[in-house]
Amino acid sequence: MANKAQATWGGRFSKGPAELMLAFSESVSFDKRLAPYDIEVNKAHTAMLQSIGLLTKKELREIHKGLATLEKMIAKGELEWKAEFEDVHMNIEQALTAITPAAAKMHTARSRNDQVATDVRLFFKDACSQVVGKLETLLKVLLSIAEKNQAVFIPGYTHLQRAQPVSIAHHLLAYVEMFGRDVKRFQEVLENANWCPLGSGAIAGTTLPIDREFTAKALGFVDKRGRPQVTRNSMDSVADRDLFLDFAHACSVAATHISRVAEDVIIWNSSEFGYVELPDAFCTGSSLMPQKKNPDSLEILRGKSGRIIGNEQSLFVMVKGLPLTYNRDLQEDKPQVFDSFDQLMISLDVLAGTVEGMEFRLNKCEAAVSDPALLATDLADYLVEKGVAFRDAHHVVGALVALAEKLECPLNEVPNEKAKALHPKMGDDWISVFDLARAMKVREGIGMPGPKQIRKQLTRWKKQLA
Ligand code: ARG
Repeated sequence: MANKAQATWGGRFSKGPAELMLAFSESVSFDKRLAPYDIEVNKAHTAMLQSIGLLTKKELREIHKGLATLEKMIAKGELEWKAEFEDVHMNIEQALTAITPAAAKMHTARSRNDQVATDVRLFFKDACSQVVGKLETLLKVLLSIAEKNQAVFIPGYTHLQRAQPVSIAHHLLAYVEMFGRDVKRFQEVLENANWCPLGSGAIAGTTLPIDREFTAKALGFVDKRGRPQVTRNSMDSVADRDLFLDFAHACSVAATHISRVAEDVIIWNSSEFGYVELPDAFCTGSSLMPQKKNPDSLEILRGKSGRIIGNEQSLFVMVKGLPLTYNRDLQEDKPQVFDSFDQLMISLDVLAGTVEGMEFRLNKCEAAVSDPALLATDLADYLVEKGVAFRDAHHVVGALVALAEKLECPLNEVPNEKAKALHPKMGDDWISVFDLARAMKVREGIGMPGPKQIRKQLTRWKKQLA
């Protein structure tokens, strides 16, 4: 049993918390990660307190000097984090108290509730710009592989059935669009994080004459023109966890995109498809079967997405039933966002590395895409251009497919006379539809896989990422 009353809030207590309670309730083991932000917040807050006359210049100097010392110690791993002080905030305050008595004034006009809300906003701003950086690297890798493979075609799939031909470039550009939206999603989270909650106190602000805009400015919570942005409701400021949910969600969506690329490439890499050879550096062998080369990086990426989505779920469940404002449940909000962030960051690196080392097996791709059935829809379009209603054209081509099946020949090898007999508008040139280059050339509308269109999209993205 720990009997000493707790140093920071122990005034009304005659006994300290039980050892078991300390071990159970501490969060410093994971929120110490916020230390650099907490120190920044302490510096800004005390500078503000001095500016309104609640600290002397000497006290401020001592506090800032002490914080600088702690900053260095923390960076070197020399500060001993103590569970008895619960969290990162109290640990830093206690460590500062050992350096200067002025530390006793640091917590003037604030609560850990607005303090942690401010710390995490700084973390989210940082994390979002780091994720955006990694996403941009991945986008560049995808673009370069797309650019190299504009003339490599494979079947595109719906229902995992061969549907229509597309280039590898078009397929990868689909992912470029998705990851491009992820960038926007994280930028939006960053923007929403850019409002300073400090000064909201525990729930209802403070009676002291604080200057909220001073601290907001000092901490970089400013708009594009440098004007401070402070939150507008003290209860919202300490209770809301929107940013946690939004950040975790942005991570889930990005991880889902990663997982879908991984799944596509796993399929392409299977012996049955064989479109792609993966880099040895991101594969592993089997301990039993000597012939195996497994796409482990991609499988783990798929697995990580489940974990990241789970983090988001756990946050929603935690927050949904909480009465306003702060409840201690909320200290459990950090492990999930840290984990989603860490796992997403490494996943983005691993996906970029794996994709960068992919080599397409041209003969396999060519063989698969040469299936003329992939251009059955083009034949229907051919009839439409000759004035046949699409529904009828669809029917005619369906009959041709059935005929080819009966004759056990590819679609474009059905004898001319038999094909022409299916509809008066089937001319001798019906067969010309089954030409891949032609099929691509006639798909130059915006967003389609025509070669000129692909070049346009590549150029647009390259400009955007330059
Ligand atoms: N470590 C706490 C958290 O992350 C800080 C806020 C504590 N507030 C309190 N009233 N105990 O939620």
